[in-house]
Amino acid sequence: MKNINFSKLFTRSSKEFALFPLDKAGWPEEWGTVYYKDYPRMPKVSFSQDEKPRADLFSLIEERKSQRNFSKEPITLRELSHLLYYSAGVIATPDGYYKRAHPSGGGRYPIETYLIVNRDTELKNGLYHYNPKSHSLDVLWEHDFIREEMDALIVAGDGWAKEAPFLIIMTATFWRSQNKYGERGLRFALLEAGHIGQNFLLAGTALGLRLCPTGGTLDYGVEKLLDIDGQTEGVVYAIAVGK
Ligand SMILES: Cc1cc2nc3c(=O)[nH]c(=O)nc-3n(C[C@H](O)[C@H](O)[C@H](O)COP(=O)(O)O)c2cc1C
Repeated sequence: MKNINFSKLFTRSSKEFALFPLDKAGWPEEWGTVYYKDYPRMPKVSFSQDEKPRADLFSLIEERKSQRNFSKEPITLRELSHLLYYSAGVIATPDGYYKRAHPSGGGRYPIETYLIVNRDTELKNGLYHYNPKSHSLDVLWEHDFIREEMDALIVAGDGWAKEAPFLIIMTATFWRSQNKYGERGLRFALLEAGHIGQNFLLAGTALGLRLCPTGGTLDYGVEKLLDIDGQTEGVVYAIAVGK
């Protein structure tokens, strides 16, 4: 019943669409400001992009499937670099505009991406935040997660996700969309996570990785780990990745 109430509330409230002045000159400066989360005091892992990998989009769409078991073969920095860049990265800067690999309602870019690295990558295990502008990772915590800690992040039924080398966690900073679109901004933020998620799944498949989304995040646990309050910024999507 709870879900039905939420979906009614969600669909009704997101039908409201603020009437914008058509002339952009009348827009508040806020609507043209793109916010990025960064961690200036934290160490970085910088990626360099080597030659662009090649793949056939239509074959990838046929090949992609949810993969829930992962080997011990390490995931390289090159693979991580391409995966992040072609899914959530800034891929061009035409006229000073930071164009991303994914569309964004009103160019508000509400989604932030984190990695929880559990095992078998060329990164140290721990928690990272992806900075799309500098194509680098902020190292938030170098840490070997023990099973009890993973149990606080993912539901028991998705045990395979706790065994994955890493988890991609997408959060939404809802206010970035809602300060322009009101309640509809919630819808836009969720849609954007879906766009980025599909990029991850297809780019990951192209790189020979194995991926599966999990709806089984224990949001309070993940939000505690990320040190976010769940409202100004909250977990919306997660994908387990391995080889
Ligand atoms: C939003 C979302 C949440 C999902 N959550 C889970 C999950 O918690 N556990 C799981 O085993 N699979 C999960 N999946 C994967 C689906 O089960 C899978 O996509 C579906 O069965 C179709 O299979 P395919 O991806 O191989 O085409 C999720 C997929 C999406 C899009």
